[in-house]
Amino acid sequence: MSYQNLRLEKKDGIAVLTVNRPEKLNALNDRTMEELDAAFTSLGEDPDVRGVVLTGAGEKAFVAGADIAELARQSPLDGRERSARGQRILDRIEGLGKPVVAAVNGFALGGGCELALACHVRVAAEGAKLGTPEVKLGIMCGYAGTQRLSRLVGKGRALEILLTGDPVDAAEAHRIGLVNKVVPRESLLAEAEALLRKMLANGPVSLRLTLEAVNAGLEMPFAEAQGLEATLFGLICTTEDMKEGTKAFLEKRPAKFQGK
Ligand code: COA
Repeated sequence: MSYQNLRLEKKDGIAVLTVNRPEKLNALNDRTMEELDAAFTSLGEDPDVRGVVLTGAGEKAFVAGADIAELARQSPLDGRERSARGQRILDRIEGLGKPVVAAVNGFALGGGCELALACHVRVAAEGAKLGTPEVKLGIMCGYAGTQRLSRLVGKGRALEILLTGDPVDAAEAHRIGLVNKVVPRESLLAEAEALLRKMLANGPVSLRLTLEAVNAGLEMPFAEAQGLEATLFGLICTTEDMKEGTKAFLEKRPAKFQGK
């Protein structure tokens, strides 16, 4: 698929994917959502890509939301389908099996905040603003924002953001755990990439199974989640990476993981 509204760059095992509709502050119209679906499907399958940085084009916005022009003319059935489709696409990002870092370079509002929430970690530029202003438009989050935000920052803080519709700035987002790190705007991409590369220095199978244990485990009762963790731990004991990682430690040398 050739992309109209995305830019994709691959370098040394990572992909930098940029939502590229700066004249509309990178708002997520249906076309952009389809492209995100296709891009993350192919990044998930691409053995040369070990992790992804997701960001927005231009100076102002990561993504300023779902495209309000499209939302304004939707029927209830369109709305239900658009919401379910968006949730499925964001689930694909969260379930990619490789780390995805959001580099939040400005407004991350509505669907843009939900998109950042589906990434595994978030690095924000100073001055970025995150929030869910849907209630000001007479609608509500439809891409799992009610669920991911409350799981990430807790119910009380999430409800303040969801019910006021007021954005929080990067410093407040950091204080409440909505973003992992705040950095100067000019070093945002470099910092996001450095964080991703730190993760990618570790065994790829370790990363994949840890993501699975956290994502799936958080949706289970604790005892069941521990069962899942023990099963994945058993599985990882069969890997070449486990043999190499432990052997390298004992031989006092850096490990060379193959992802096998
Ligand atoms: N959907 C569609 N178009 C959007 C958009 C969105 N979510 N967000 C911004 N745009 C468009 C604007 O309509 C404008 O287009 P135009 O130049 O053709 O009129 C362009 O992007 C620039 O936005 P503008 O509002 O002029 O920029 P600003 O700096 O004055 O304000 C925001 C920035 C983010 C505060 C403002 O754009 C905004 O409130 N956007 C909507 C945020 C929102 O409610 N998101 C949730 C949607 S569910």
